[in-house]
Amino acid sequence: LFRSGRSRRAGRQVALVAEEANVSVKSLADLLAEGVEGRGVLVRCDLNVPLDEHGAITDPGRIEASVPTLKALADAGAKVVVTAHLGRPKDGPDPKLSLAPVAAALAERLGRHVQLAGDVVGTDALARAEGLTDGDVLLLENIRFDPRETSKDEAQRTAMARELTELVGDDGAFVSDGFGVVHRKQASVYDVAKLLPHYAGTLVATEVKVLEQLTSAGERPYAVVLGGSKVSDKLAVISNLASKADSVIIGGGMCFTFLAAQGIPVGKSLLQEEMIDTCRQLLEDYGDVIHLPVDIVVAADFSADSEPELVTVDKIPDDKMGLDIGPSSVKRFATLLSNARTIFWNGPMGVFEFPAFAAGTKGVAQAIIAALSVQ
Ligand code: 3PG
Repeated sequence: LFRSGRSRRAGRQVALVAEEANVSVKSLADLLAEGVEGRGVLVRCDLNVPLDEHGAITDPGRIEASVPTLKALADAGAKVVVTAHLGRPKDGPDPKLSLAPVAAALAERLGRHVQLAGDVVGTDALARAEGLTDGDVLLLENIRFDPRETSKDEAQRTAMARELTELVGDDGAFVSDGFGVVHRKQASVYDVAKLLPHYAGTLVATEVKVLEQLTSAGERPYAVVLGGSKVSDKLAVISNLASKADSVIIGGGMCFTFLAAQGIPVGKSLLQEEMIDTCRQLLEDYGDVIHLPVDIVVAADFSADSEPELVTVDKIPDDKMGLDIGPSSVKRFATLLSNARTIFWNGPMGVFEFPAFAAGTKGVAQAIIAALSVQ
């Protein structure tokens, strides 16, 4: 989210991440210009959508975001082979995590039939891939049904990546468009890109452009709001942004590791113990920038009907877990956000899927909207 206006704090040095890293990646436009008619193109999408208890998709946003790249390739006559994951299957194929509902939703939005292979890189996938004609779209079954996808063993991942390349033939290409998963060192994301000519899809290119703006000279004050549960995934982001932003607001499941790093007992709340020292270091380095909740909505269990109780941050009971930030935290964060001219928000403040624990996320969303509306 960007706001225009004059910078009120110009002191800090900022730089474009992509420039620092000297990244140069070919785009979908480059691939289309080279020509894809009749060629097999493997596309990694992030179709990891939320499902309800009946297996129905509750938010098709990621499917919709994947359409432009897939449509452009199919329209240009490519034989499109799509790979994606759903959830984190533990022991091979799990019917509850089949991509069948995703294939149907994707077909609807693409306006084309989408075949779903019955396996990942097995005989069905191979036979279907060989039978593709120009403009056809084939979705492979949940890529994580094959344990080699997420293996730590490079040889295993490479073997799987080779099998993926066989689905698109000798003149095949790879398009990386699963923005939510590009940070994973996995066969269909990382290893396959080493084996095929590779290109960034529209979604990845757009997101990278936005991130470049958010990690460069945006309008100040610049506020970053981080939530969600995965501290370890976001640590590099936190330290990078904390050196550039005027305030980094941390809520959601990840705040408890930061609170624990301050010596605050967090009860049964989500905690990444191995990250406590790193969070402590971040607090030492960026204590003036990082802001944590002052009150928490706790409950006995992770469930929608668990009784909510509001406590100050230093009073989280041993037998309860934090599921949302409290109203005083929202108020404090809203004040910090009110004069921000650039706001970068990633991740919810609590378990917003449960109405009793959604107020913190909604409150911060409203504060961001209010801040934008007075620009
Ligand atoms: C996500 O939902 O964050 C992405 O799809 C990545 O999923 P993962 O955290 O299971 O790798």
